[in-house]
Amino acid sequence: MQHLEVLTNAAVCVEDGRIAAVGPRETLRAAHPDAPTVDCSGRVLMPGLVDSHTHGIFGKPRHEEQELRAAGDGYMEIARRGGGIHSSVRDVRARSEDDLYALALPRLRRLAAHGTTTIEVKSGYGLTPDDEIKSLRVIRRLQQALPLRLVPTFLGAHEIPLEYRGTPHAREEYIALIVDEMLPRVAAERLADFADIFCEPGVYTTDEARVILGAARRHGLQLKLHADELETAGAAELAAELGATSADHLAAVSDGGIRALAAAQTVATLLPGTMLFLGRPKQAPARALIDAGAAVALASDFNPGTSPTVNFPLVLTLAVSQLRMSVAEAVLAATVNGAAALGLAAKVGQLAPGFSADLALYDIEDIRELPYWYGDHRCHATWVRGVATHGAG
Ligand code: NIG
Ligand code: FE
Repeated sequence: MQHLEVLTNAAVCVEDGRIAAVGPRETLRAAHPDAPTVDCSGRVLMPGLVDSHTHGIFGKPRHEEQELRAAGDGYMEIARRGGGIHSSVRDVRARSEDDLYALALPRLRRLAAHGTTTIEVKSGYGLTPDDEIKSLRVIRRLQQALPLRLVPTFLGAHEIPLEYRGTPHAREEYIALIVDEMLPRVAAERLADFADIFCEPGVYTTDEARVILGAARRHGLQLKLHADELETAGAAELAAELGATSADHLAAVSDGGIRALAAAQTVATLLPGTMLFLGRPKQAPARALIDAGAAVALASDFNPGTSPTVNFPLVLTLAVSQLRMSVAEAVLAATVNGAAALGLAAKVGQLAPGFSADLALYDIEDIRELPYWYGDHRCHATWVRGVATHGAG
């Protein structure tokens, strides 16, 4: 992750939505004298950012919780009172598919406007078969409507819904509902590529995660975990053991978890915007993970509760300034490794022949300016599969 190749006076040749060649501008110009061109001079062209972790399907914002936390309430405490994820669940259940679609569309456009070209989008605020399917259908409609690459994830195990907490066997009943009803429907309609779970003390245990993710895998879904986000619970070790595609958050990962991820193919996806927004003092140990040999990715965690930012370059700022990653590491984590966190490493995230022409053009002269102008909007244009998506094109 130390080596980022930067070319100057270079060109990218795109054919049929893919990168056909990358090389000196004069050489490529001579080889394709009649090809239409986009002048990128004075700017930085790079692979479009790959945001491998968002909860993009939700209704209203939850700004009231930000002030509650400022006054001393914890994230889990607010959830225990029926707020947090539960508040978004009540809201999503009350909304129609059309309504959720109309809310998500401009939000994803705002993510794209900052240079993101691939966005993983989770369900997880429905928590009934119909409301989870409704959310995943919204993602499918967004895939058809937007010139972006969207990757759908089923997150029926985002919480134990409040109505499954009264009786002794209620938890088991909800887990059975996920396994026996939701997963078969999601698989039959091919509505998701991944299944995810919030594996955290107070939410799902590692034993429950084993059951749910085991069933998801039998239905052909790839696996992700919200792992060791707030408290250490061995979730990173479980992700490595199960061969999950990614283990996400990891602010409370143990040394054993770091070693397990380093030894596995599982990508360690870090979400520093979440810890910033929650006002938590401890960020994920990015240096220890990278130095141990884990593949580290960065993502926005865009969601109404813990990370309402659409600005992926700002996440790179946090990576360099808070996680002590180099610019090269942060850029690779947001492109190559973000793609690996979605099983797309051979397709997106690199400017190289054969890769999809998913590109971002920034109003900066040096790649180090991308995390530097923090909070700014420097994205000039993006392309997905060679098609102008955002900006001037
Ligand atoms: O990644 N931790 C669980 N899920 C989200 C937060 C969801 C919410 O608070 O609405 C996260 O931080
Ligand atoms: Fe999340």
